[in-house]
Amino acid sequence: MPVKGKTILIISGGVEAVPIIERAKALGLKVAVSDGNADAPGFRMADFKIIASTYDEKKTAELAFELNEAERIDGVMAAAADVPLTVAAVAERLKLPGISVNSARIVADKLLMKGTFSSSGVPVPWFSQVRSAEHLEKLLREKKTLVIKPVDSRGARGVVRLVEGVDIAWAFDEAMKNSPSSRVMAEEWINGRQISTESIITPDGVITPGLSDRNYEQLERFAPFVIEDGGDLPAILTEDERVEIDRIIGKVARAIGMKSGTIKGDIVIGESGPIVIEVAARLSGGYFCSHTIPLSTGTDFVGAAILLALGEEIGLNDFRPSAAKAVCQRFLFPEPGIVRKVSVPEMQEESLAMLKVYVKVGDEVKRITSHPCRAGMAVTTGDTREGARAAIKRVFDRVTVVVEPGIPV
Ligand SMILES: Nc1ncnc2c1ncn2[C@@H]1O[C@H](COP(=O)(O)OP(=O)(O)O)[C@@H](O)[C@H]1O
Ligand SMILES: [Mg+2]
Repeated sequence: MPVKGKTILIISGGVEAVPIIERAKALGLKVAVSDGNADAPGFRMADFKIIASTYDEKKTAELAFELNEAERIDGVMAAAADVPLTVAAVAERLKLPGISVNSARIVADKLLMKGTFSSSGVPVPWFSQVRSAEHLEKLLREKKTLVIKPVDSRGARGVVRLVEGVDIAWAFDEAMKNSPSSRVMAEEWINGRQISTESIITPDGVITPGLSDRNYEQLERFAPFVIEDGGDLPAILTEDERVEIDRIIGKVARAIGMKSGTIKGDIVIGESGPIVIEVAARLSGGYFCSHTIPLSTGTDFVGAAILLALGEEIGLNDFRPSAAKAVCQRFLFPEPGIVRKVSVPEMQEESLAMLKVYVKVGDEVKRITSHPCRAGMAVTTGDTREGARAAIKRVFDRVTVVVEPGIPV
């Protein structure tokens, strides 16, 4: 591998960035990590540190420029952080491969993204900016099933389905308060199978090693919020649907002007085929890219992303899935209240690949309104989807999180 000894800047040193930093080290790279939290776990493995908020593109680019004077930086990427503008600012300042500022602007703004996609022939739901609750009421009279969301947030924060009984003014405020730029949009809610995708883009083409059936069994429990409860790999798709997803992601890449890199997608298989809800020009969070995809497919997805960030040419065949093992991921959702007891016993569970409980005694479990509210997660493998799911159930049955409800949340 010709990359040994090169230096990559990884933006974010959060827990989910750790496996990505580890992969870069394993490829023989020197790693610079940037994060606003000086105690971020990723710094422990870093050869160079930049203390700057991952959202602070100016400061990150400035400090990266300074570091580059002393230690040449060869590539930049984000790990488990949705900060395309920061990656792009560093890439521009240091003249690195990375994504362009223009591409980053498109993916950082759901209105601009959908506008760009619809004029490039990428299938997207009907959408409109919403200026007021009254405007939303009017749209709702014309369209039957709408979802409202901030134009520039993430993790399902402020994403509200306008189901029967939802107060329109409240839903508008909920989306608005989660938008840094105070802009919200409505979209037609597309019924259909929800798929997470993670693709590798090169000048030679597109492959999508990450294809997961997102689990929305608890959609009604958490309504009107849209909370995903993990996913199952491999996704159950026809060959035609797979080909169509690659074709659409190829169009997405052209529409945003990306020649190589990785794209994470939220896709719904609607009545007329796959429809793009949104994409992100970065690696996925939730250990999808670093654990779930490799466990299921054998693909070194993170390795591919690192090589592309360094401007290396890669052969798509080296990253094509070589297996399709069943992998199941599920989250832990205790009822709201104060955590009084947490017990995670040692388990002899061969199929258990990962178990994390994020809450501890004394923590407050809030009402689940977005993905960061989740209290833990597990990943299991199996010969069949049912087997992997049964293993998750066995694992969660042994994890105890006692919550005292009724305490003001
Ligand atoms: N128009 C829609 N039709 C169907 N599902 C949707 C739609 N909009 C959002 N969702 C669901 O809600 C999730 C969160 O919305 P999204 O726009 O991806 O916001 P975020 O950036 O917070 O992830 C999506 O991943 C998808 O599962
Ligand atoms: Mg999303």
